Amino acid sequence: METEIIKIKRDGPGGSLSDDDLRKIARAGEIIKSGGLVAFPTETVYGLGGNALDPLSSKKIYAAKGRPSDNPLIVHIADFEDIKKIARDVPEEAKKLASVFWPGPLTMILKKKETVPDETTGGLDTVAVRLPSDEIAQKLIESSGGFIAAPSANISGRPSPTEVKYVIEDMNGRIGAIIDGGEGEIGLESTIIDLTINPPQVLRPGFITNEMLGSVLETEVVTDKALITEDSNEKPRAPGMKYRHYAPKGDLTIVSGGDEAVIEEINRMIEKDRAAGFKTAVMVCDENAGRYNADIIKTTGSRNDMKEAAHRLYSLLRFFDDENVERIYSESFETGGFGAALMNRLLKAAGHKIIHL
Ligand code: TXA
Ligand code: MG
Repeated sequence: METEIIKIKRDGPGGSLSDDDLRKIARAGEIIKSGGLVAFPTETVYGLGGNALDPLSSKKIYAAKGRPSDNPLIVHIADFEDIKKIARDVPEEAKKLASVFWPGPLTMILKKKETVPDETTGGLDTVAVRLPSDEIAQKLIESSGGFIAAPSANISGRPSPTEVKYVIEDMNGRIGAIIDGGEGEIGLESTIIDLTINPPQVLRPGFITNEMLGSVLETEVVTDKALITEDSNEKPRAPGMKYRHYAPKGDLTIVSGGDEAVIEEINRMIEKDRAAGFKTAVMVCDENAGRYNADIIKTTGSRNDMKEAAHRLYSLLRFFDDENVERIYSESFETGGFGAALMNRLLKAAGHKIIHL
């Protein structure tokens, strides 16, 4: 299959789309309407979109990603009112959260209506809904009929793409079109909150933190236990969270502790790796970068700048793959606020391999 690359030039961040851009997006919408797939930018990561109400389109998404079909897809809408067409009831909590966080990086799990095929929800009787803030995404949803099922636009198991070159790497030849809209602002997938249970629970941490959700819902919001315990036997409520994810091809280890001890330990392991002939890399903060002896030194930004680190994480993991790095060491991050989401992804990418000093 020939994949069309559609370049959209925004006039800078928050810049509006030209008539020509809108025409191009409308054409991509037609591809989705007629049962095809289109990758598109969002404020989190690139999505791989198909018509959420068409079982065949969802099947095509699973096939293009090589993803197990029991792992449900998020339905993206562009108008809050459309939620009523796919959710059986819209609880008060959903309205409150939407009024504060939509459009934006929040996904809500609700009871589904029959209109949403089982193929889209992996057989569950609930549906995940998100209203993204990215203007290209919104226009694409509108022009494709209103409901786009979209997982991240990566081959299953690989880091989610935050840059179009990685979408092309994974999806070229497999889908109808790829919309190039530049880099996503946030870089990590949306926060997922399950509103079908009481009290609501976060199934995947993201930019919208438990504290932010709790202050709107006026109750404490906690994260699904199966996510936070490292070797939990509990089954996560978001099926996708059980799969190995975001993993680079090289072996990634996180080292946590005081600065001096971490630097010393990582350098010691690198010496050993080097003696064994491995290519090495570190992923560390700007402040410590000069003190490592790895073949490749990449920084996540200034110490504890979670936003910058999240923005860079997936591209760095992909970069290490491009460079055929075999051993990667990462410093650890504080887990308060947005740091919880960052550490959740980093731990998954490392297969939970972390050394506490
Ligand atoms: O930021 C995002 O959410 C991106 C962009 C493209 O919007 N999308 C994304 O989709 O991350 P995906 O498919 O990579 O991750 C969706 C997650 C999976 O862990 C899946 O198991 C969970 O959402 N999920 C979807 N529907 C669910 C449901 N009904 N109940 C529980 N978990 C659900
Ligand atoms: Mg994904």
